Amino acid sequence: MLGKTLYVKISVTLTVLLSISLILFYATIQYNFKVYQLEATQHVNRSLASNIIRDKGLALGDFDNKIVWKKYLFSAMLANPDIDLYFIGLNGELINYAVHEELVVRKQVSITPILAFLKKDSILPIYGDNPKSHDQRIMFSVAPVYKNNQHQGYLYIVLSTKSSASTSVKSLKNSVTHRSFVLRNAVITVTVIVFFVLLSGLVIVRRITSRVQRLSSEMIEFKDSKFCKSPGQAIVSNKSGDEVDQLHEHFYQLANMTIGHIKELKNKDDTRRELVSQICHDIRSPLMILDGYIDMLSGHQDDLSDADKTQYLNSLVSQSDRIKNLIDDLFLLSKLDDVDYPMSRESCNVSELLNDLAQKYQGLPYNNHAISIELALAKHPVKALIDIGMMDRVISNLIENALKLSISGGEIVISCYEYYGKCLISVKDSGPGLSDEDCEHIFDKFYRTQSSLKKGINGSGLGLAICKRIISLHNGEISVVSGEGKGAEFRILLERL
Ligand SMILES: Nc1ncnc2c1ncn2[C@@H]1O[C@H](COP(=O)(O)OP(=O)(O)OP(=O)(O)O)[C@@H](O)[C@H]1O
Ligand SMILES: [Mg+2]
Repeated sequence: MLGKTLYVKISVTLTVLLSISLILFYATIQYNFKVYQLEATQHVNRSLASNIIRDKGLALGDFDNKIVWKKYLFSAMLANPDIDLYFIGLNGELINYAVHEELVVRKQVSITPILAFLKKDSILPIYGDNPKSHDQRIMFSVAPVYKNNQHQGYLYIVLSTKSSASTSVKSLKNSVTHRSFVLRNAVITVTVIVFFVLLSGLVIVRRITSRVQRLSSEMIEFKDSKFCKSPGQAIVSNKSGDEVDQLHEHFYQLANMTIGHIKELKNKDDTRRELVSQICHDIRSPLMILDGYIDMLSGHQDDLSDADKTQYLNSLVSQSDRIKNLIDDLFLLSKLDDVDYPMSRESCNVSELLNDLAQKYQGLPYNNHAISIELALAKHPVKALIDIGMMDRVISNLIENALKLSISGGEIVISCYEYYGKCLISVKDSGPGLSDEDCEHIFDKFYRTQSSLKKGINGSGLGLAICKRIISLHNGEISVVSGEGKGAEFRILLERL
């Protein structure tokens, strides 16, 4: 389990990478220092061959003389036991040398490195052939030899066969770093630095991964709580948080949104259940009444007077209308719940619409109450883009509600005017008004006030829910201003044309 954690993976990767870097550093420093040593040796001895020619006063004749060479061999060996001297021809062929015959295995050395060495701006080190070996490449110093201003050959000096150019990594004990104090110190310092970098890296990685682990356990906890328990508040409110903080923040937001959605779904489910039971209840009552009347009419047909029969039949029609209206309202409400409900909106003079409706209701004797309907309209026409049929339904419901609930002698004022650049429609009555709690729920489906229930006023409680939905499809607002015993005013605010 631990082996799979992000921390272990990053730590192992970091350790391996730093170890590889350290090994590469050692190898590079070994190789480069060796090359540097060779370069330094060749630099120091760059003019060795020409100096020998000058200092020892050697002439070409001396080079030709084997005895002089032997003498010179001894003196040179005493002065510097690490150098071998050769006189070579213009093409690199060995002509004479101060080395034991049996040790020399080559008859010729390559002339190319010699010519490169003799160039003024040559870059050192330059490796040459070792006459004592078929394949070994060595440091050398070389100088041209002239006789009577004529180039005869070269004095070719093999500087040290011990400092070969072999780049193979020898044991640490023999390595250059082991022998050099400065390099040994550099290697130790770099090793210590790498070690501290590794340690600090592991601590930092630990801190980062522990935050990721915390997030992961919070996610698991959230999942285990069936997406109901809020993991907490967002910790990053400014932009300074890093990616992990932002991830944390996004998770919190996502979790809280999910909780909100789940709550909303639960509420919707509760509402749906309530709605279904409400519908069942609202349909059952008229159905039971219908049932009773049908029983009465079918069972006691002969005992009933014509007047009774007519009354029962009227009641049957009224109850069946009630069921029909309820079903129509529910059907319309479910259609209006679709955000893409097709509205046929057109430019309409709202004042005219209200005028027509007022006239329609003024002519109807409602519950035998004498309720006056007044119009207070703006002088100039107030136009809006509306679905006239739908808006007719809204205003009608408001007027019908006011008529149903107002007492005899009451007054309803319907007004329309421009309000802050918008079209404001108001239906105000002098009826019983609404309590604060009623105002809060008045637009809920099936909501009916206690006072209207007590008074037995007809209605399903769907009218205002339909009004609210229609107004919201018009991108408008509907609200109520009321107080108990103070009448009620329903206001509709629409975009004005
Ligand atoms: N002007 C008002 N004054 C007092 N109470 C009102 C007024 N308008 C509505 N109400 C209350 O709000 C309730 C809901 O009204 P709504 O129009 O939604 O339904 P309804 O009139 O009962 O039935 P429906 O309109 O579906 O036939 C009413 O039952 C009534 O109790
Ligand atoms: Mg109504």
